Amino acid sequence: MSQSQAPRKATPRHYLMCRPTFFDVTYAINPWMNPEKPVDTDLAIEQWDGLRRLYLEYGHTVDLIDPVEGLPDMVFSANGATVVDDRVLVARFHHAERAAEAPAYHEWFTRRGYPEVHSAEYVNEAEGDYMVVGDTILAGTGFRTDPRAHAELEKALGLPVVTLNLVDPRYYHLDTALAVLSDTEVMYYPAAFSPESLATLRELYPDAIPVDEEDAEVFGLNAVSDGLRVFLPETATGLAAQLRSRGFEPVGVDLSELLKAGGSVKCCTLEIRHWTAA
Ligand code: ARG
Repeated sequence: MSQSQAPRKATPRHYLMCRPTFFDVTYAINPWMNPEKPVDTDLAIEQWDGLRRLYLEYGHTVDLIDPVEGLPDMVFSANGATVVDDRVLVARFHHAERAAEAPAYHEWFTRRGYPEVHSAEYVNEAEGDYMVVGDTILAGTGFRTDPRAHAELEKALGLPVVTLNLVDPRYYHLDTALAVLSDTEVMYYPAAFSPESLATLRELYPDAIPVDEEDAEVFGLNAVSDGLRVFLPETATGLAAQLRSRGFEPVGVDLSELLKAGGSVKCCTLEIRHWTAA
């Protein structure tokens, strides 16, 4: 394990979340979802609210978008839009069941006066598949986001995009297989990527934290970092220890109800990145 202990510094973040008022598992669009299994919506709300309060306690800003009845997956706000320097590229969902979430996000950003709110031509599930690392965007494809969306993303947000191919249906979004820790650091589960994409990741991030299956399958990689704290499922204990050894402060969160839909911490968190003078 790396001994390098760069001093870690948290920076205040701006997140957009959606209360799981209408959360349920009524269809199956990923291998984690089983509509036969009962869901406790009140518990989901309580767990989600725990994450929201944690963000506030740590000094972050949390905005809320109104949940829409009949859209049980809308709690996964990471899928709504990608925002860089206040430029917004709204999602276009792969499955009909989630399609109506996109206009809700479009309206939210437009109403708030964001100057550039782009509608997408190609299917992209936003921060589910798009991860901003410094001034690069890692873009997943294979299950949801159309590879043609990557060029559209580059054009809309003005950052270079690196395509990564996902190969395991359990890790259907990039944010289930890789997490951003800082402007230069990531952690990922190698077996979720094609050999070529793995080679790309190794070249770009030789010091990345390798995550094993045990932590990946409890959604340990569905994590949010503020540069110091890393909010992640509390069951990913091996990963928490790896993070501590790199100077991060893991903060365990229980979102077990939301896991029934195949989502956790990162899925519930859309980051709004503001323009700041260099
Ligand atoms: N049930 C949702 C779906 O399959 C879960 C989305 C999780 N979101 C994420 N960013 N990975 O679309």
